Amino acid sequence: MPNCEECPLNGEQVVQGEGDRTGIDVMFVGEAPGEEEAGARRPFVGPAGDVLRGAVSRYLPGKEVYYTNTILCRPPNNRKPRKAEITACHDRLLQEINEVHPRVVVPLGNTPLKALFGLEKITKRSGRELEVEDCDFKVFPLIHPSATLHLSRNIPIFNTGMRLLGEFLQGGVTEPDTVYKLLRQDDDVESMLQVAGMGLDVVAIDYECTHLRPWFGEPVTASFCWQEGHAHIFYLNTERKVEAWKEFLLSPCPKIAHGAKFEYQWTKWHYDIEINNLIACTLLMHYLIDENSPHDLATSKRLYTKLGYWEGKMQEHLIPKDEHHHTASEELLINYGCEDTDGCLQIYHQFKEAMTP
Ligand code: URA
Repeated sequence: MPNCEECPLNGEQVVQGEGDRTGIDVMFVGEAPGEEEAGARRPFVGPAGDVLRGAVSRYLPGKEVYYTNTILCRPPNNRKPRKAEITACHDRLLQEINEVHPRVVVPLGNTPLKALFGLEKITKRSGRELEVEDCDFKVFPLIHPSATLHLSRNIPIFNTGMRLLGEFLQGGVTEPDTVYKLLRQDDDVESMLQVAGMGLDVVAIDYECTHLRPWFGEPVTASFCWQEGHAHIFYLNTERKVEAWKEFLLSPCPKIAHGAKFEYQWTKWHYDIEINNLIACTLLMHYLIDENSPHDLATSKRLYTKLGYWEGKMQEHLIPKDEHHHTASEELLINYGCEDTDGCLQIYHQFKEAMTP
């Protein structure tokens, strides 16, 4: 039971969780009941509830779901729950999870994410499994459905997250069947020059660097993708590899990048050449297609492709020190770098179609 004596809200309008207590696939944990919920004494029956319940019937048909909240009472004027309220209701939440014993717990927004796992940054974590040690249920955070009511750019993030939750329940988001490879030896980079001579429509390119500004950092790796699911990456650590990269960049083979200004600037600054036939920037293309949604590659990969497995793995190393990759293994770096060019190539084809009248 909640510890109502110690809670400033006094347990006046308790809204209990809703759903069966056995055989639950997904337990949604919201923030706190709102006005409609307090009136009806049922969780998620107001506008945010309409969004959530609508998405449940669309993306999780036939699944058993349970709805509850981080705190069970409505804070005055729907303000955020306070620490003392969350603390007073915390044991009740843990006990409820224990009793319901769901396969997957879905914290909706930062409030339950923080209360249950001490974590923040829901937008970055939304729509992928959160790996939690010593836990007998899976955790799959999502942005709160009310976020879609305030900002339309959150609609595709929420809906894609629900779609991925559906896939996750069907067997999990597994390592994709891709051919990503590290070109370790000098001779290996010949494959890139072969790609340049294949007469392809387009090849996606990307750098991983030690800094965001070329004058403060060094390029570490270059990667390229010429066919969906096929990408190579190599360290720019020998003269031969750098020369081959320059030859590739100067070749007439058409190239694209996500945020192509970055590739352009780094190439100009470090190698004093201009990329030949850099025909498109997928970031700009996305801006033209959808002014209001986020334009970063991670979001586009999530919204428009089935990729994102390695991005998800890398997030654990990016949070909270946004730009440091140094705790990631080489395997992860290779796959992450390759997935970015693969993603860039895949969204390019989709965006091109979307832009064709
Ligand atoms: N928002 C929540 O977090 N919970 C509800 O029950 C309703 C809206």
